[in-house]
Amino acid sequence: MRSSSILLAAAAVTSTVASPLLVKKSNFAAPPGGDIDILNYALTLEYLERKFYQEGLQNFTSEDFCQAGFDASFYANLKEIYADEQSHVSFLATALGDKAVQEATYSFPVHDVKSFVSLSAILEGVGVSAYLGAAASIANKAYLTAAGSILTVEARHASYVRAALKESPFPKAYDTPLDFNQVYSLAAQFITGFAPGAAALPFMAFPPLSLRPSQYPYTAGRSSVTFDNAYANAVAMGKAAMDTKVYAVFYSGLDTYYVPVYIPGFNYTMAPEAPPTGQVYVVLSTANGTGTNLATDENTISGVGILEVLMK
Ligand SMILES: *[C@@H]1O[C@H](CO)[C@@H](O)[C@H](O)[C@H]1NC(C)=O
Ligand SMILES: *[C@@H]1O[C@H](CO)[C@@H](O)[C@H](O)[C@H]1NC(C)=O
Ligand SMILES: *[C@@H]1O[C@H](CO)[C@@H](O)[C@H](O)[C@H]1NC(C)=O
Repeated sequence: MRSSSILLAAAAVTSTVASPLLVKKSNFAAPPGGDIDILNYALTLEYLERKFYQEGLQNFTSEDFCQAGFDASFYANLKEIYADEQSHVSFLATALGDKAVQEATYSFPVHDVKSFVSLSAILEGVGVSAYLGAAASIANKAYLTAAGSILTVEARHASYVRAALKESPFPKAYDTPLDFNQVYSLAAQFITGFAPGAAALPFMAFPPLSLRPSQYPYTAGRSSVTFDNAYANAVAMGKAAMDTKVYAVFYSGLDTYYVPVYIPGFNYTMAPEAPPTGQVYVVLSTANGTGTNLATDENTISGVGILEVLMK
């Protein structure tokens, strides 16, 4: 029986590391509604974060965090983070007035303190990537400053929570911009419903990509990552057949790495000279990363997966 997994190949890593600033993707262009859409996109993420902390602080006590190995100030700092997210929500909702989107309903895969804190680090990192990716599309300079002001605080949250998890608080010299649909794909995994009659944002989610690294955290340059069901999804979408070359595209800082994937049987080795590190994002694409054949939303098969990668 054919495995529904796709494994990364051992060799032939191409990357666009040499000239990341020359790689301009169309998908960073402003959405049709311009700044209003972008602020609503930000609000959507802030609602999600607010709900996440609200639930987490209800579910777990200060003692629960201490018992799980976090220090005595951790709970108070989580409350502070929650207050920041509440403030971001009010700020954006007030700026948007009657154009503000309504809050969706969410479900988070949290079963204990550890999974809550791990997801917290991921969500804060995604927040950073979202604001960073959106920055260039914001037309109004005052909004850009406000977005930057939120972005730096999300980055501080991310560092703090990462450090509490004994992960590097600043794993790379550059943070990673993600485009609107990439972030929306990540957020959509937690959205269970929209308010009746709520206006939809002009973004779409890719079929989800689940990664199964053979070790966690993943160490750059070692062993394999399996993408569960990705092949079946791609075929079902008519985006891949047996002979379609598919690439795993890794986003890390301003670098993008393209690695051919195979069905199944080989392992992936990261480019040793400049390994992706930290919270690395992955999509599967039919683009190979050479010349102008770059990953875009149009040639993305599934995503976005997240891999926490340690320096070798
Ligand atoms: C809080 O607990 C509820 C009930 O167990 C669970 O459904 C939810 O996912 C949890 N949320 C968070 C963020 O901890
Ligand atoms: C893939 O990785 C596994 C586990 O690390 C190892 O046992 C296996 O030999 C590797 N296969 C190849 C083809 O490198
Ligand atoms: C990448 O794709 C381009 C355009 O389809 C093609 O010309 C080129 O040969 C491909 N390169 C590799 C290494 O597959």
